[in-house]
This record gives sequence, structure tokens and C-alpha cells, in this order.
Amino acid sequence: MKQTAEGKQISDKQKAAPLWEALEAYKKKGVVPFHTPGHKLRSGPFTRIAAALGSGFFALDPSDEIEDPSFDNDFELALEAAESLAAELFGAQDTVFLVNGTTGGLHYFLMPVTGTVLVPRFSHQAVYSALILSEGEGVYLPAHFDPDWLIPLPPKIQQVEKLLAENDCQAMVLTHPTYYGTVCDLARITALAKKRNVRVFVDEAHGGHFCFSPDLPPTGLECGAHGVVQSTHKTLGSFTQTSMLHSNDKAWSSKVKQSQRVLQSTSPSLVFLAVLDEVRRVLALQGGDITGQTLELAHSCATRLEQISGVELLPRHLQGDPTKIVFTLRKLGLTGIEVERILRKDYNIQVELSDYYNVLALITVGDSVDHITKLVNAVGDLAARSTHLGGSGLPRHRVQVPGLPPTTHSLREAFFQEQEQIPLAEASGRVSGSFLTPYPPGVPVIVPGEQFTQDIVEYLSWCSAIGWPIRGLMAEEKVTVLKDYNHFCRK
Ligand SMILES: Cc1ncc(COP(=O)(O)O)c(C=O)c1O
Repeated sequence: MKQTAEGKQISDKQKAAPLWEALEAYKKKGVVPFHTPGHKLRSGPFTRIAAALGSGFFALDPSDEIEDPSFDNDFELALEAAESLAAELFGAQDTVFLVNGTTGGLHYFLMPVTGTVLVPRFSHQAVYSALILSEGEGVYLPAHFDPDWLIPLPPKIQQVEKLLAENDCQAMVLTHPTYYGTVCDLARITALAKKRNVRVFVDEAHGGHFCFSPDLPPTGLECGAHGVVQSTHKTLGSFTQTSMLHSNDKAWSSKVKQSQRVLQSTSPSLVFLAVLDEVRRVLALQGGDITGQTLELAHSCATRLEQISGVELLPRHLQGDPTKIVFTLRKLGLTGIEVERILRKDYNIQVELSDYYNVLALITVGDSVDHITKLVNAVGDLAARSTHLGGSGLPRHRVQVPGLPPTTHSLREAFFQEQEQIPLAEASGRVSGSFLTPYPPGVPVIVPGEQFTQDIVEYLSWCSAIGWPIRGLMAEEKVTVLKDYNHFCRK
């Protein structure tokens, strides 16, 4: 065992990456492959793919069907070894590598649920789709937004306490951190839930890096959660769509694996899984240093942006994860959505997300001083341009984010009912057949089985008018609603 810079006890085995090494060994052997995949580990006619990815990429992509313990590269055994090393590093009893992102992990955690699940309304769509797959019913913690910054805030202790007392919950899901980097008092909320025998699952899609620095918030597992899912691809550098599910709940873990067996492809990409393994190895050896450097870059970025006249940064009391830089140019009359567009068009910079006020720039292991300088210079230039154009402050956001609408059908019932499309403007009183989610941040305003109110119609129309993309809103501003036979009869 050894102790890392951030105080973690890890075994010497962390220096190895068993799955990555098994894959490389298979490549080296040059086995004549009469097995899937069809490219037969060669680039063949796919010259453009080979030119971009390297022909060696194909050789690292055998199917996972090859099992032979007498071989030195039985992929199933290597995957098990890789997952247990990840479990050790992230402080879990059990870890599962995922090829369908945190979306998949949330589905596996929640599919076995049969009772009530406490769900913050600003949960990612994957939590809702997990409920459609399960026999569970969601009880929602209403979203509340910071009045000055209009970002969704994490749930308050009192809110959670009240809903836990009013409902006999089997599980709850918390998002930690939110897309904007805000965090709740996870340890206290988890303790409250556990007192009532409620399982706590944490959507840690944006917090995989937390365990590598004491200057970051505590992880879900450190706060006592039963399980967490992390998008390793979002903050830690693995390939897009690869995540890790960590669990400290033996009984639930076996249900999670059963769910995975039915929901996951029977041909998960070995390259993707092996990249998770290799990323884990590097993090075990250098995670503390890498995260320290990322934090320094983020700090420098925030400090330099703050010095630009007209630029405001998310205040410290709202900031949980300093690697998520949230800023606004509203004093200069620009919406976050406009800033995102101008940064892309005029400066070749793409940020993670924008909303009416804010822009979010993510700083991760992949960033460099050069990236930060480019962003700071571009924002400085843009701020000077808009001041020169006489930009005056952005009108305050006047539309109230609507409260939770009435529910007439369960999510699952509504999802599979007969539906039709009507103009959003005529939807008041009708029951939604789909999710309508201004994205980002991905907080559904209405979900299947809920009834449109006039407030909701007006809010969504406003989002659409300012160019805020709404997932679920169709061409000509149409929405999907359940067919209303009573209504037709009345006519
Ligand atoms: C809070 C949150 N949870 C879950 C997900 C889904 O993660 P993935 O893309 O890894 O499936 C996202 C994706 O953006 C997210 O923002």
C-alpha cells in the first residue's frame, strides 16, 4: 500500500492497467481473427478512418467474446481486475465500467426500484428515463433558482426533510455537483435519508475529479451515499460515453448488475472500457498533481476574467466546484446565449453551455495556459467591443420559472399513451406526452403525464423567443400531448 499526494491509500497494483494491457497483448499476438468485429482488426478499405484515428485503433477493437483463462488476455477477467482497482481508487466496494455514460448508470441504479423515489426536479433527463424503465414513482423536490443568477440551486435540507417525512421513499437521487458546479450539504441530506432507510444514489456526472483534491467538495461516497455514477469522460479525460458506477451497497449492486445485463449492449467496446482502465491508472499515480494543476488554471482563469470591466463571476457562496467558471456579460447588454455564439463565431472558442445570463467554461485535465489566455483575451475583446457599441445592461429576467404542474398520469403510463402534436400556444390544460427541457441546464419544465398550465406555455414561449434550445419542442413550436378523447366527445 502507498499513500498518494492527496492522502489516499492505494496498493501497488494501481500501477497496472489489466484491461488495457490485455488489449495491447492481443494486438501484439496478431491472432488471425475469424471473429467479430467485421473489420477484423484492420483498417482495410476505411482509409479516412485510419488516417484520422491511426490504423492501430482497429487492432485495439476486438469483440469481448474472447474468453480463455489459459490465454494471458481473458478480457472478462481483465475487466473484473480493472473494475476492482477503480473501486479501490474511488473508495467503493464495487465499481462497474459503463459504455452508455452516466445515463446508463442511472438506469441501472433505478431500474430495480419498485416504490417512491425522491427526485430533485432539476435532475438530468436520465433520472426520468430511469423511472420510465422502473416500477418506481417520482416525488419531486421543486427546483429553486438563484434570483440574481437564475441558476438552479441544490435542494435545501428543510425541503428534503419535509418530503422524506411526507412520503414513504425507497430511494432518492441527488445531483452533485450541478452542471453549474453548485453543491448541497450532501453529508447531512444523506444522513437524513439513511435514518429513514432510504437509499441514496448520487448523479456525480460532473464530479468525478472531486476525490483527487481536498480543495474540492467531498464525493458522494465520502458523504455516505449508497452509490454514485460519474461521467469519467466529462471531467477526467476518458472517451466520450464512458462512465463509472461506484457502489457501497452489496445488496443493490447485484440488482444493478442484473439491470446492466439486460440494458447494455452485449458488445461493449473494449477500447472504451480499456481507456477507462488506463485513465484510472494514470489518475492513481498522478491524480493529485493533475487536479492541482487544473485547479491552478481555473483559479487563474477566474481571477483574470474578474478583472475585465463588465464581466461578473458567479459569487463564491454559490460556487462549489471552482473548475466550473460561470460568468456573465449582462452589464454590457449581452445574454449568455449571445456570448456563446460570438465566442464561437468570432474567436473560435466553444464553451460548455450558456443561458439567459450565464456562460459556463469548464476547466479540466485537458486544458493548458494557452487555452485560458485565449478565453480571457477573447472575453476582454468582446467586453471592449460591446462597451464601444454603447451596450447597456440586459433587462432583468422577468418571467418567473413556473412551479410544478399538476400530474394526471404516471411518467410510464403517459410515455406509452397515444399522442398527438399541437401548437404550444394551445397546450394549456392538455397533458404532456413528452419532456420539454430548456437545454442547458436540462431541467424539464414539464414531463409526460403533467398538465400544461398557462404559466408553462408562456415560459416555454419566452425561452424559445430568446433562442434557448428546448428539447422536446418540435418544428413550428409544436408539442406532444396525450390524445384527449373526452375533449373530442364534448365537441
Ligand atoms: C447532471 C447530469 N447527469 C447525467 C448526465 C448524463 O451523462 P452521460 O452523458 O455521461 O450519459 C449529464 C449529461 O450531461 C448531466 O449533466
